[in-house]
Amino acid sequence: MKKIGSILVLLSSALCGTGRPMAAQQAAPAVEASRAAKSTSWWKNAVIYEIYPRSFQDSNGDGIGDLNGIASRLDYLQELGVDAIWLTPIYPSPQVDFGYDISDYAAIDLQYGTLDDFSRLVAAAKRRNIGIIMDLVLNHTSDQDPWFKESSSSRTNPRAGWYMWRDPKIVDGHRQPPNNWVSDFGGSAWQWDPARQQYYYHEFYVQQPDLNWNNPQVRKAMYDVARLWIGRGVVGFRLDAITSLFEDPLDRDEPYIPGPDGQPRIDAYGDKEVENIYTDNLPEEHGVLRELRQATDAAGGHRVVLIGETYLNSIDDLRRMYGANNDELQLPMDMQVGFINKFDVALFRRRINEAETGLDGGQPLFVFDNHDNPRWDRYQTGAAGAPQSAYGPHHDDIGRVIAAVLFASHDTALMYYGDEIGMATTPPTRKQDVRDPIGIRGWPREKGRDGERTPMQWNAGPDAGFSSAGVKTWLPIPESYKTVNVAAEERDPDSMLHWYRRLIALKKNDSALHEGEEIMLNTADGHVLSWLRKAANGEAVIVACNFTGQPQTVSFDLSAQGVGGTGLKTLLMTPGAREPQSIASVRLGPYGVYIGQIR
Ligand code: GLC
Ligand code: CA
Repeated sequence: MKKIGSILVLLSSALCGTGRPMAAQQAAPAVEASRAAKSTSWWKNAVIYEIYPRSFQDSNGDGIGDLNGIASRLDYLQELGVDAIWLTPIYPSPQVDFGYDISDYAAIDLQYGTLDDFSRLVAAAKRRNIGIIMDLVLNHTSDQDPWFKESSSSRTNPRAGWYMWRDPKIVDGHRQPPNNWVSDFGGSAWQWDPARQQYYYHEFYVQQPDLNWNNPQVRKAMYDVARLWIGRGVVGFRLDAITSLFEDPLDRDEPYIPGPDGQPRIDAYGDKEVENIYTDNLPEEHGVLRELRQATDAAGGHRVVLIGETYLNSIDDLRRMYGANNDELQLPMDMQVGFINKFDVALFRRRINEAETGLDGGQPLFVFDNHDNPRWDRYQTGAAGAPQSAYGPHHDDIGRVIAAVLFASHDTALMYYGDEIGMATTPPTRKQDVRDPIGIRGWPREKGRDGERTPMQWNAGPDAGFSSAGVKTWLPIPESYKTVNVAAEERDPDSMLHWYRRLIALKKNDSALHEGEEIMLNTADGHVLSWLRKAANGEAVIVACNFTGQPQTVSFDLSAQGVGGTGLKTLLMTPGAREPQSIASVRLGPYGVYIGQIR
């Protein structure tokens, strides 16, 4: 798979967060009552919260989350401190890919609500200084979209050239797909269409035909979609599969990836694995991004942010997504930090430093979790890499480390609903329970993405407060809801929820943690990741994260960084930890975190 980091982490189902360390914690400054009015760069150092609408809050008792449900939880999101919400697709859709197969880009799917509900949500969020970011799927539409229906009806209709149509290759008198390109979701990426007597290309499901981005009418139609939603009040777009817009004009075969025996590797779907050199990250995409940026800047008065789903392998590729003249994406996702997927201090240090120094001043967007990958509990593997139960002994400690990297770094932070209460990935255990089609096709090697899409756990009541009592929810509610839920964590000052709130408050209100430059410290240390945040006003803060299950003691010398003072004022630390007296000796428990201001 190219876009979705396919991380095979086997998680045995387990419950409860008992045995967590309990202790007093430092109080962080309260979130300011009102935040600065949204400027053209409001998204810099902001906190963006991804909501999977099916799973956040159901308001009408059909077991599926909806817009009115989200609106009813805005106070919670405001208290958490989020600046914007990214909604995964809520447009009308046959829901083959749960919304990523759009059949009408101008409307709202009835199961999520109406356009009026949407307008009310935008207005209510705005009153709380929260912006709404829509998901924009440019690479493909649903096969039920009228555009595709028309395009597939003949070779001469007005939209005949809107999708990727190709003649078959004839081998020994038999029809074959034009080349060996495979779908990310299994099987050939080419589907035969009897009406046109041609194949069409689909990077994802058969029901998601790829648009032809060489066609100027396609471009114009999609820029119009962006303008339409800007007019409806959205403050940004998350651009789905944005590195997939173009394919090799010569339709060349992709190279196979050899396994240990020299033969092509076989993936979870039984396909030979190919390297996507002709279907991913082609240079033509930059022309589209510049045009789109011009359109959104003009329609949104330069306040609309473009976020990219950019699974890229190098900092150079990531830098290109900002545009040579900062005229493409403001926030391409940096998947190179959050998806390291193991506590490798040296690698984290290198990648974070690359983001700080290698993006030509572009704002990094860090992310650890989304609706396509196992949640952050995937970082919890045993010493030999053996998976542990989701709520293993260090579950909360690990969550605190990850949250510290996310919120105390010099970045815009993108988080996923449920992260803040420590919801663990809960994949289905039987094939007949799987809802995500890739899990049905790939079972048991690929269990699909249901495990990270389970309903939000609000309280210990029926349906975890997500739906009405006794309703069958679209995905089952994990058993953990009895102890891992918002209401219980509100009451526990040492909970994950309070840790997130304090970190986010620091990111907003402490000048060093908000916008200070980031300098890696103790760069030879293989156990503790430490860094300095230094604000223009001279404020300096150190952050130290123990990446191991053993206690560690670190010592800092900041003279080379031009920071005077060796005293510390604690801003936040792991519950139960002892406050250090000076930077000469900071003790950290297993996976302990310390954040302190230099005095
Ligand atoms: C993106 C989405 C994923 C979807 C795919 C196809 O990777 O995040 O959920 O299945 O694109 O649209
Ligand atoms: Ca509903």
